[in-house]
Amino acid sequence: MTSRIIPVDLFDLVVFGATGDLSQRKLLPALFHRDQQGQIPPGSRIIGCSRRALGSEEFTAFARKAIEDHVAADDRPPEVMQRFLARLSYVAADAAQDGGWADLERVLARGADRIRVFYLAVGPDLFGPICERLAASGMVTPRTRVVIEKPLGKSGASARALNETIGRVFAEPQIYRIDQYLGKETVQNLMALRFANALFEPVWNSGHVDHVQITVSETLGVEGRAGYYDTAGALRDMVQNHLLQLLCLVAMEPPVSTDADALRDEKLKVLKSLKPVAGDAVSQLTVRGQYRAGAANGGAVKGYLEELGAAASRTETFVALKADIANWRWSGVPFYLRTGKRLASRVSEIVVTFKPIPHSVFDASAGPIAPNRLVIRLQPDEGVKLWLMIKDPGPGGMRLSHVPLDMSFADAFNVRNPDAYERLIMDVVRGNQALFMRRDEVEAAWDWIDPMLEAWSASADLPKPYTSGTWGPSAAVALIERDGRTWYEDQDL
Ligand SMILES: NC(=O)c1ccc[n+]([C@@H]2O[C@H](COP(=O)([O-])OP(=O)(O)OC[C@H]3O[C@@H](n4cnc5c(N)ncnc54)[C@H](OP(=O)(O)O)[C@@H]3O)[C@@H](O)[C@H]2O)c1
Repeated sequence: MTSRIIPVDLFDLVVFGATGDLSQRKLLPALFHRDQQGQIPPGSRIIGCSRRALGSEEFTAFARKAIEDHVAADDRPPEVMQRFLARLSYVAADAAQDGGWADLERVLARGADRIRVFYLAVGPDLFGPICERLAASGMVTPRTRVVIEKPLGKSGASARALNETIGRVFAEPQIYRIDQYLGKETVQNLMALRFANALFEPVWNSGHVDHVQITVSETLGVEGRAGYYDTAGALRDMVQNHLLQLLCLVAMEPPVSTDADALRDEKLKVLKSLKPVAGDAVSQLTVRGQYRAGAANGGAVKGYLEELGAAASRTETFVALKADIANWRWSGVPFYLRTGKRLASRVSEIVVTFKPIPHSVFDASAGPIAPNRLVIRLQPDEGVKLWLMIKDPGPGGMRLSHVPLDMSFADAFNVRNPDAYERLIMDVVRGNQALFMRRDEVEAAWDWIDPMLEAWSASADLPKPYTSGTWGPSAAVALIERDGRTWYEDQDL
């Protein structure tokens, strides 16, 4: 099966922070793949921009290396590499200085009518200065879009301030707040499962769903990013954005269409229905942890404090929490969320566990009857599993087994699974905001997170230690087991 290519208009894309990690690992490879697939129109340009004094040829060599490092050899035929590199140029400019901006203006003036995208792959402190310079030099045309990356603030107040700053230059329909989880194939598939099948929607509610788990676990530690990470922590870095976005897609009502605002209106309603977790409830409904030395990725690893080079830190590298959605559909159905670094395996998945059957007609000799579960896996291998009870094959009486109907997308469709950034960058060019967070969503998510951050910072408790390579502190297990439930663990991991 081949994937469909949606044509896009001629565009110029300026990557601020073009020499950075995100650009090397994600943006340049993603753009290359789209070019290889024939989606980038002839004449479209990619302009790198950062402080480093590089000539366009040096930047081209830099980009070639990034692609060689991150795109499989079979996927980069020489003619595509040549075509792609010919699109690139570079302008040295400092967000905080005057030099270089007139050069950028001159380059862009040669394509004044094109779609213009400014991708801000730089720290958020530079969003304001860059936007102001773009506006002052008249580079923001009606067909211009701006892309910003997390972190979108550190609290509700700072997110609002950031939104104000960007909003002074760009109108909301021009602003693309990227969350790479929303670009993943399985996230799209969650919508297909829910809204293109008659099977699930009638049971997608508190009458039939027992609880929902959302896990995003990493085996990596903070390594070179310890300085940044210590100012953020898992709640800000992962829950406020990625996990809450996934929760919204599971819990939202059917939108009236797939139009961006129709979808985002429904997600916003979910965020506004989250029961506040504040004051004393924070210690009952949340667990924060910090990894210690242990074993991960096949070897001994250091603890967080050693990586940070500090004697103490109150920053959490793990969080588990129980959320309740106070609305008609989900009342009484807990959503358990957990995320952390240096955990036992790398996985992102949503698990919807259905209620037990009301009565068993089978003898005890048939074995226990486990509940149905729908497991939506975002990584490492995207796919969907539906756990069902079936009869063990063969004679020997009625014995029941819990087995998954397993659909791995890579096997099912035999296509390369495009990286989320490929879809998301092209959505920006197409002007489709459906998979990007709207201002009010970001602010509503912070409004729910802020009281937890406040309670943690007012508490004398430190994050609970956990050994690297485990599933986090034992309190996280207690959080769910107190309710008579357990965290889902896939035997394949
Ligand atoms: N890396 C990821 O996977 C990832 C994932 C999600 C979000 N993000 C976010 O994306 C942004 C970039 O991350 P990164 O990891 O790529 O950071 P990085 O590796 O530190 O790169 C930063 C880039 O910004 C440029 N830069 C720094 N100061 C500048 C200035 N005053 N004017 C113009 N350019 C400047 C740097 O180049 P010069 O030094 O040459 O100027 C470099 O190209 C951050 O906000 C980060 O939180 C990154």
